[in-house]
Amino acid sequence: NKESSSSRGALIVLEGLDRCGKTSQSGKLYKYLDEQGHSVESWRFPDRNTGVGQMISSYLANKSQLDDHAIHLLFSANRWEKRDYLSEFSTWSCPQSTGAHPPPTSLMEEKLKSGTTLIVDRYSYSGVAFSSAKGLDIEWCKAPEIGLLAPDLVVYLDISPEKAAERGGYGDERYEQLEFQKKVAGSYLSLRDSSWKVIDATLSIEDVEKKLREAVLDCMMTCHKGKPLSQLWP
Ligand code: TMP
Repeated sequence: NKESSSSRGALIVLEGLDRCGKTSQSGKLYKYLDEQGHSVESWRFPDRNTGVGQMISSYLANKSQLDDHAIHLLFSANRWEKRDYLSEFSTWSCPQSTGAHPPPTSLMEEKLKSGTTLIVDRYSYSGVAFSSAKGLDIEWCKAPEIGLLAPDLVVYLDISPEKAAERGGYGDERYEQLEFQKKVAGSYLSLRDSSWKVIDATLSIEDVEKKLREAVLDCMMTCHKGKPLSQLWP
């Protein structure tokens, strides 16, 4: 566990099946918090802008084939590179070095500690849910996520795979298939714990937005009061 700060931001993660409305709700939440004067950023995984992210994107678009374990590790690497050590600590050297250096601090951690709330569209839970739905061992799937920052709040936008499919808009991406999404839903169920906030994603957009805001503001308050940051898996 990291040291606490009296005014840190919250790490909020939104999870759910494809077409559950996560991305548009992340956008609405970001806009609301920003307008309220909070320091907030909107992140998403996979982040397709990095080199690793481009490999993931090509895999998802069926333009390249990769072993299930290999793509799992790439998704994880994509989170590690965004946790990323700050360049100001680039002088941080190996443990054998004699110089006194500050411990490395991550970009994500630094943002949170400086008071910025991060709204993250998908995180390690997507990594584990989608890969274990392919049959990979769940503990193996969790292992490369160990040490990433644990979210302060995981919101699961709950929708049945059938209802999500009815929403249309399934693109050509690899995982956007009903049968596979059913398996992913099962994996998410086994990952969920009582700390997750589950919101019925079939409610009206406004109602989902309202419930999401309430949960997030409540969590932000707890973080503001000094809840310490922790690491996966708790
Ligand atoms: P997106 O549609 O939210 O951009 O996500 C792309 C797909 O990648 C989506 O079907 C979920 C899947 N995914 C994984 O399989 N593992 C991961 O770690 C993440 C973040 C997403």
